[in-house]
Formats: sequence, structure tokens, C-alpha cells
Amino acid sequence: MKTNKKIVIGNIKMNIITRKDREEYIEALIQESKSVDYEKLSIIMCPSLVHLENFSDNFSDNEIEIGAQNIHWESKGAYTGETSIEMVNDLGAKYSLVGHSERRQQFNETNEEVNLKVKSLLKNKMIPIFCFGEAREERNSGVTKEVISEQIADGLRDVSAADVSNIIFAYEPVWSISDGVHPAEIPTSDEIMEVKILVKKIVAEEYDEDAAEEIDILYGGSVTSENVKQACIDSGVDGVLVGGQSLDPKKFIELVNVLGE
Ligand code: PGA
Repeated sequence: MKTNKKIVIGNIKMNIITRKDREEYIEALIQESKSVDYEKLSIIMCPSLVHLENFSDNFSDNEIEIGAQNIHWESKGAYTGETSIEMVNDLGAKYSLVGHSERRQQFNETNEEVNLKVKSLLKNKMIPIFCFGEAREERNSGVTKEVISEQIADGLRDVSAADVSNIIFAYEPVWSISDGVHPAEIPTSDEIMEVKILVKKIVAEEYDEDAAEEIDILYGGSVTSENVKQACIDSGVDGVLVGGQSLDPKKFIELVNVLGE
């Protein structure tokens, strides 16, 4: 669903712990985001589920939109510890991350489960932010394209041509996502551009050229205000998915505003 705006998604992960932290964060984000030019930019924040309702309420008359970090594909039932799409949607979320590498690696989320989540979100008129990308070993052994092609083919299985353009694609190479251990590293803008071309090619082959034109493709992994030009503008993608730097509203909005220049 292409717009000419750059999309910036803040993935807060399991951060912002207390209600006090949340209040301070939201207040700072409201203040800082006054400088954002929403003609050129759109912002989607993905807080923890326990903070989601509060984020939605605070940003309901603001341009910032809200997404979940995870959902279950079933609408209700005996799924202890899970949260349905209808639940987060009712609290104001219009988006959800799907297939983030931390879920794939730490919670054994499979391509099949990612596919169930994508289809269920689309059925409920929510926008999946579909994350994919290769691990360091896969990159080193030269199978990046194969891995990405499989993740996309499996993740989009049985998604209609009309629906595919309602998905936001987020290329997140696992090796570039900050883990607090390894120094931050991001692909070159050419490497990101190659993945963008690959995704468009896959979508054009599976669906058609129009669908490939319509999709938004983002980059994510160690994005900061210093490297966001390389990661997004030079590579020609439609936006970025930001983890670490979204935890500080001032730095986050600094990063956002680089894309609005
Ligand atoms: P990072 O996280 O910006 O902290 O590397 C990105 C992500 O995991 O979505």
C-alpha cells in the first residue's frame, strides 16, 4: 500500500518496564514528535502488550500509530499466555510484527506459524510487518538469497494478490540486529538494495508487477541517526525498523527527522 512517506517503526521489545517509565517515555515522545513532518513521514510504535492500550490512548489524537510485537493467529480459546489479533486490534493496534528473528530463534517460531499469523492479520484488516533475513552463518556460506526466498515463499503461502500489498516487508539480517554483545554492523546500501530487488522479483513472480510495485520494503538492524541515510535513502527502501534507538525518544525522533530532510 505504497505511500510516498518514509515509514519508521519503533520496536520497543521487552523494554520500558514500569508505569512510571512508560509515562516518562510517552510524554517525551509526544514533545519530541512535534517536530515531525507527517506529510513526509509515518511512525508506528510497537510497545509491549501490557503498555499497548496506554500508548493507543495517548496517541489517539496524534499521527503516531500503534502496532503489537506479537499475536496469536486464533481468535480465542485455550491458548495460555497468548493474545489474539482481535484483542490488540480492540486496544488500538493496526499493525503487528510477525516473524521477528528473536521470535524465530528464541521461541522457535516457524515459517508455517509466521504464515498463519500473516493470513490471520490480513483477514482481520490489520497490517503485518513481516520480518525476514539471514543469520550470520547463512550469510557467510553464501545462501542469503535462498534463505530469504524460502522465508518469503513460506510466509506468504496462500496470501492473495489483493492482500500482499497490505504487508510491510522488513529485511532484518539477524547478524545486524543489536544484541548488546557484538558491535553494531549494518549491510552496505547496495546489499540492502539487492534484497529489495530480490523481494520485488519474488512478489512479481508469485503475484504480478503491480503487487511488486505496491509493497513497502523496510530495513532493520542497528539503525541510528548516523547510519539511517545509508540504510534507507542510499539503499532506496521505504523506511526502517528501529530497536535500540527507539528507546530514547529524543534520539529516535532525531533519526526519524533525518528521513524527513
Ligand atoms: P536494533 O533492533 O535496532 O536494536 O538492532 C532492530 C530490530 O530487532 O527490530
